[in-house]
Amino acid sequence: MIDISHYLDDCKFILVSNREPYEHMRGVHGIEVKQPAGGLVSALDPTMRRTHGTWVAWGSGTADRDVADEAGRVAVPPGEECYTVRRVWLDEADVNGYYHGFANRALWPLCHMLIQHFEYRTEFWERYRTVNLRFAHAVADEAERCTGRAMAWIQDYHFALAAEYLRAMRPTLFIHQFWHIPFPPADILRMLPAGTHEAVLRGLLGNDLMEFQIDRYAVNFLDCVDRFIPEARVDHDRQCVHFRDRIVHVGAFPISIDVDRFEEMASAPGACTLCETLRERYAKGTRQLGVCVDRIDYTKGIPERIRALETLWNESPNMRERFTFIFVCTPSRTDLPAYNALEREVTQNVIRINATFGTDDWTPIVLINENVDSDLLAAVFRAADLCIVSSLQDGMNLVAKEFVASQLDERGVLILSRFTGSAEEIEGAVLINPFNVDGFMGGIRTALEMSPEERRRRMHRMRKQLHNSTIFDWLDSILGRSTEIMASQRALTAVG
Ligand code: G6P
Repeated sequence: MIDISHYLDDCKFILVSNREPYEHMRGVHGIEVKQPAGGLVSALDPTMRRTHGTWVAWGSGTADRDVADEAGRVAVPPGEECYTVRRVWLDEADVNGYYHGFANRALWPLCHMLIQHFEYRTEFWERYRTVNLRFAHAVADEAERCTGRAMAWIQDYHFALAAEYLRAMRPTLFIHQFWHIPFPPADILRMLPAGTHEAVLRGLLGNDLMEFQIDRYAVNFLDCVDRFIPEARVDHDRQCVHFRDRIVHVGAFPISIDVDRFEEMASAPGACTLCETLRERYAKGTRQLGVCVDRIDYTKGIPERIRALETLWNESPNMRERFTFIFVCTPSRTDLPAYNALEREVTQNVIRINATFGTDDWTPIVLINENVDSDLLAAVFRAADLCIVSSLQDGMNLVAKEFVASQLDERGVLILSRFTGSAEEIEGAVLINPFNVDGFMGGIRTALEMSPEERRRRMHRMRKQLHNSTIFDWLDSILGRSTEIMASQRALTAVG
């Protein structure tokens, strides 16, 4: 594992994200601590431990207040107390307006260009501003508490305004932000009311460095700034913006996964046994096993995937019984109607398809509609002959990389939507357009009919590539770039 703590030797690290790395919950046996499964937490927790930083996040656990001090601070991990989580408290109206509202009903669909889901309310926007300001105050206070230099690193679309607010409070603080999702072209961003889309851009220009998954999103951001922020001067060649006497750097930093951890999980005895059981049950003889793993989200192209499978089984009866598909669909954002409707639609369609095509000996789609533990996940990925990622738009899509990392036997084919960030990075997948049902079916056929040698060749290549770009390489390049920019800012101040 690459050690990136040296970048933070003389610089306090303040991380900002909506989700917290440790959540205290009231359980039957008293207070329990939960650590969310997300990749960001598992990648950043070791760095936070080593550098004794502070992680500022929404205090969402039912017992979070019971263990935090007056400022909302609590030392974590429990029993080890290496770093601080600074909790920001949100009431129900804040959560509805900021998180469910502006972040997930306005920015999320807009950035994914799925404008039929876009909803805007003034109340959402107002709460989003208040909550961003509250987060900025918390970060400013954390920066105040340290004697030396500090760096604030903001995560994602929940905080489009925080950098600008924070800049006003701490003008010399180094602030950067990683935008995990796509950034839309100008014609889409301007669907936000006049004044609001400009405010989002000015908010992001509060950063010293703005990080995107792939170059296309960085280019979209620069185009939006060029078009909507008259006082900004965009240098497209150098990918930076001259704004209010500062330079805002922009770049692409594709996120990845902890590859070793996924390999270890896939080779653990529990996962190996489960993998054999899955193959025995679903991939006997010439039958193949397909898998997909998603949060139930309208960006993931789940109905499109079901439609492609249904059309294939309908139009090509010889494809029936050729393969079984395991759908791992984890519930997500269930307070939002669009997500609930999608969950119902997926379940009903799977039931219908199984009733239409299933036989005594064959269930076409096995739906696992819950959070699965890492053993089962690793086994599902390892056991598969093919994996489908069919997002309509996706910043990166880490499922594609998790599948590749878990494919220790190099038997599986990755069928990957062209509209994911991963498709621009990974070479060796079968690329599909999820909107084109015939092309999608063709991709599934190609995967099913691919020879073992060709599968191995492609998977081997993808695995090699992945080993050279893990989540630690991602952190290394972001912190390396930040350190360079900080040094050039210091040199300029010294000259000035
Ligand atoms: C996406 C976002 C993350 C978010 C995750 C889960 O990957 O980029 O910031 O945490 O979805 O969504 P949730 O709303 O449950 O945090």
